[in-house]
Amino acid sequence: MICRPVTIALALALSNIAAHASPAPTPDFPARATAFADRPAIAVGVSWYPEQWPESRWETDLALMQKTGFNTIRMGEFAWSRMEPEEGKFDFAWLDRAIAAAQRHGFMVVLGTPTAAPPAWLTQKYPDVLRVDENGTRAGHGARRHFSFASQRYRDFARRIATEMAKRYGRNPAVVGWQIDNEVGPPSFDDESVAAWHAFLKARYGTIDELNRRWTTQYWSQFYNSFDQVPLHATGQQNPGLLLDFKHFTTATWTDYVQNQVRAMRPLIDPRAFITTNTMFWNAGFDHFVMHRDLDIAAWDNYIPDGRPDWVANGANHDLVRGYKQRNFWLMETQPGRVDWVPVNRALDPGQVRELAWQSVAHGADAVLYWQWRPSPNGQETYHGSVLGQDGEPNPIQAEIAHVAGDLVKATPLLADTQPVAKVGMLFSYDSRWAIDLQRHNKDFDPIKAFTDFYRPLRVQSQGVHILPAEADLARYPLVVAPNLNVLTEAQAKRLEAYVRSGGHLVLGPRSGMKDDANALWPQRQPGPLAALLGAQVAQFYALDQGVGVTGSVTGKASIWAEALEPLARDVRTLATYSDPGGWLDGKPAIVTRNVGKGSITYVGAWLDPETMARLAASLLADAKVAPILAGTDPDLEIAERAGAGKRILIAINHGNVAHPLALPAGAKPAGGDWADGAVPAHGIALFQLAPEAR
Ligand code: GLA
Ligand code: GLA
Repeated sequence: MICRPVTIALALALSNIAAHASPAPTPDFPARATAFADRPAIAVGVSWYPEQWPESRWETDLALMQKTGFNTIRMGEFAWSRMEPEEGKFDFAWLDRAIAAAQRHGFMVVLGTPTAAPPAWLTQKYPDVLRVDENGTRAGHGARRHFSFASQRYRDFARRIATEMAKRYGRNPAVVGWQIDNEVGPPSFDDESVAAWHAFLKARYGTIDELNRRWTTQYWSQFYNSFDQVPLHATGQQNPGLLLDFKHFTTATWTDYVQNQVRAMRPLIDPRAFITTNTMFWNAGFDHFVMHRDLDIAAWDNYIPDGRPDWVANGANHDLVRGYKQRNFWLMETQPGRVDWVPVNRALDPGQVRELAWQSVAHGADAVLYWQWRPSPNGQETYHGSVLGQDGEPNPIQAEIAHVAGDLVKATPLLADTQPVAKVGMLFSYDSRWAIDLQRHNKDFDPIKAFTDFYRPLRVQSQGVHILPAEADLARYPLVVAPNLNVLTEAQAKRLEAYVRSGGHLVLGPRSGMKDDANALWPQRQPGPLAALLGAQVAQFYALDQGVGVTGSVTGKASIWAEALEPLARDVRTLATYSDPGGWLDGKPAIVTRNVGKGSITYVGAWLDPETMARLAASLLADAKVAPILAGTDPDLEIAERAGAGKRILIAINHGNVAHPLALPAGAKPAGGDWADGAVPAHGIALFQLAPEAR
């Protein structure tokens, strides 16, 4: 194979992503598990690794999967050394037989390209493909993800194996979808990555003068005479512009890494088969909105590592993944009870595996796949939860998973072509999250925790939140909350202004509108390009080591972070002020609001404690006239609605340990689940079909 340096194609792709140009939109993929009309709209299944087992066992396994109620199998994603045992020598006969066997049992198949685990012949003959960490240490063979995301040679090999698979199975009627690689993530710092970094910066800034200007490299004599002087760093005492652009670089490189395979596969596969990649929760490695622009659907791996689910926080994860494409997604992996990669791998309680499967569906999953079917006799993950035990017989959790499968198959006609309903939009920005994380100023300012603290009462009280990128179409959301929009571009500010003027209620949280997309301070005070619209600004921010009081239309406490606000326009109303005797914040506005056009803009300058946040959420929802789907339910009872194709389905999930009453909503018809005697039992679920006029 020929190894070229960073190719023109890569540089172009990087520049496209670097410039935030929107590529041609992908055709609208149907909002259902599969686009095959003759296939189930909801998938339920498991990861199976036939390459680890004697073929004589396959039939037994497939029969047991069928008995469990599964309709889908995912395979292939780590089997490179079996598919290509020697360079250029392919062996797909075993996979032909495995897919054919799955097909005989009526399963849908999702195939993973195996590029997360390069074979030994590859890394031995071409050690330049191996990943180098930030300290300069090259990875060795034997684990996974030990390749460099920028290696052209690696991409050539990856594209070739992906192409071979697509040629062979792209038109196979059993194959309904494709997963590229597996949980892409760690960057590399090898020479090719450095060259790609320089190409990326050149594409982004055009001239070195522009980079010097945007990063203010007169600071500490950082000035660069040319792009090739710019070091590649992810951490350390580096320029904040460099560190944020490092994230833009990893976004562009991982996106192009995935597209390198997608571009080759597209022409070879059935257009009804989706192409996706599976992602991890709150993964900070790249901007997931950008990654998904040219993928058909989003898919993710939902794990509760400590076995103690916080349903609201977990719901935020699902809503974020839904937001990548703003449509339904696949749950590509979830745990049959426990994981094996945290200090204490506690198993979920009886009933919680089912409850969490239903939660994913309530938030827009059209597929629930368990990882994995059976533990391999050896290998890194022999302690992980699985449907079968090492003896090939069902584990205790199998009965509950069979229950999930039965539920989902039965509910498929109801759920088909429906999507989660929400009246509240929340803006999540990777740039903002990174910018805050790079300069927290208060070690406790965890941007994900800050986001989740805003999300929690909004989700509980409104019963439907969509998490969106700042570029999304916001017109259908009466209330849009941006908890920490630290990086705010002019273009985003303009769109938000238009949203407010046409009747939207926009709420900005602390640290909003401080930086541009090179992580430089805006010349005006926060919220920067939205300060004029707000008619107020942040006079000063303060890191807090103890709480301060907040009084007014909401009264309570703020901690970690507080900003003294300063109204500038006469029609700005102060909703709450600080009480901080002897301190800078005392008597200063903490929350201000202003009616503009047909809508309003509100700025919340402090990180409020949960009770105060709940009161604030209630007043924001009331102002925007957002009513819950079903009022007066217990906080352990999650309520959600999926609507579409003329149907409205209410889903109730009891995340608690005791039964909770649930009054049948007006015009609703019970449509499955455990609802009985007017209550949902502990860890139980209930489905209702709502009348179109019921809300
Ligand atoms: C030291 C350095 C300065 C500056 C200040 C910030 O004193 O000499 O350059 O970094 O810290 O507190
Ligand atoms: C991730 C990986 C899987 C497996 C599971 C275990 O999600 O994608 O291959 O390692 O974790 O929890």
